[in-house]
Amino acid sequence: MILGSKELASRFEGVFGAAPDGIWQAPGRVNLIGEHTDYNEGFVLPFAIDRTARVAVRLRPDSTLRMLSTFGNQGLTTADAGSLDRAAARGWTKYPLGVIWALQQRGLAIPGLDLLLDSDVPRGAGLASSHAIECAVITALNALTAAGMDVKDMVLATRHAENDFVGAPTGIMDQSASLRATAGHAVFLDCRDQGVRLVPFDAEAAGLVLLVIDTRVSHSHAEGGYAARRESCELGAEVLGVKALRDVGFEDLEEASGLLDPETFRRVRHVVTENDRVLQTVELLENAGPQAIGTLLDASHASMRDDFEISCAELDLAVDAARSGGAIGARMTGCGFGGSAIALTPAGSEPAVRAAVERGFARASYAAPEIFSVRPAGGATRLA
Ligand code: GLA
Repeated sequence: MILGSKELASRFEGVFGAAPDGIWQAPGRVNLIGEHTDYNEGFVLPFAIDRTARVAVRLRPDSTLRMLSTFGNQGLTTADAGSLDRAAARGWTKYPLGVIWALQQRGLAIPGLDLLLDSDVPRGAGLASSHAIECAVITALNALTAAGMDVKDMVLATRHAENDFVGAPTGIMDQSASLRATAGHAVFLDCRDQGVRLVPFDAEAAGLVLLVIDTRVSHSHAEGGYAARRESCELGAEVLGVKALRDVGFEDLEEASGLLDPETFRRVRHVVTENDRVLQTVELLENAGPQAIGTLLDASHASMRDDFEISCAELDLAVDAARSGGAIGARMTGCGFGGSAIALTPAGSEPAVRAAVERGFARASYAAPEIFSVRPAGGATRLA
């Protein structure tokens, strides 16, 4: 359970000997649909979940950084804001340090600070727990310093932190969801220009529950696989003579199949069809409601399994078992190679879906999955 702001402030004072300047929080996300489309300048439709990272922060008069979390066994970590060393950064502290580094790269003077982190975003589950930390930290620093960033700047700065300090070649979906979400809505984001439209997504009012099935599989080569997919997409765009795969349409696929090697073609086909599925999902949510999107979730999963090849046996089993238990649509969410699946489930079928997934995992001798429901929540904000 996440600590309330009073409890977090009093722990902060106990550790650092003074009250924090404030407390900020930012959520993790579930991507409803639109996977591996963000770095192809395409469309995504994530929503923020009711699981957050919270940071209590106090600026210091010197350049010392002192960071502690309420979880794990990393203990108090110190660094110097004047000489950040990405090779020496360890564990979760890479994320606040990466944000500070990215802001410094933009010419902003970021002083030392004391920081206490709490989070109930499951780690390693494909729910953007690292971005939740980065977004909480950047929102805090934007408020406490003269940084004066707007939300688009904060999205780009956190991507800079992820790409060039943490070392993960990710796009802009996760931080956009965390920074820009509104409760009861999904964030329809055009990753070419960061244009956003909030799309009503109230599963509960439609008699549905959005279940997350955390397979607890965390593939050690996930990052290598992610980078390899990015490279395939870049190769595809280059051969097809477009700026990004966003510029390839259905009508181009036939010609593309003759120009690309079979594997690159499958990668391209996933991105092209996935962009289209995002647009269709938005239209259905706006005109028919969440009940109507199940088959698009299923089609998205099949495309990731067969064309983009980022699923794994546990994710496929979670999706198939959830469907057989009564879910109206299911897909893996996030970067893939492990992590979580989502299952859009009629409220009355929730026990049957849970039982079907748990039974399937037990039969396959997989570790028991973690299954919980999430709601579309609001974005990053100051708590105290
Ligand atoms: C990770 C990245 C995102 C996005 C997804 C895949 O979550 O951080 O930028 O590329 O994978 O859709």
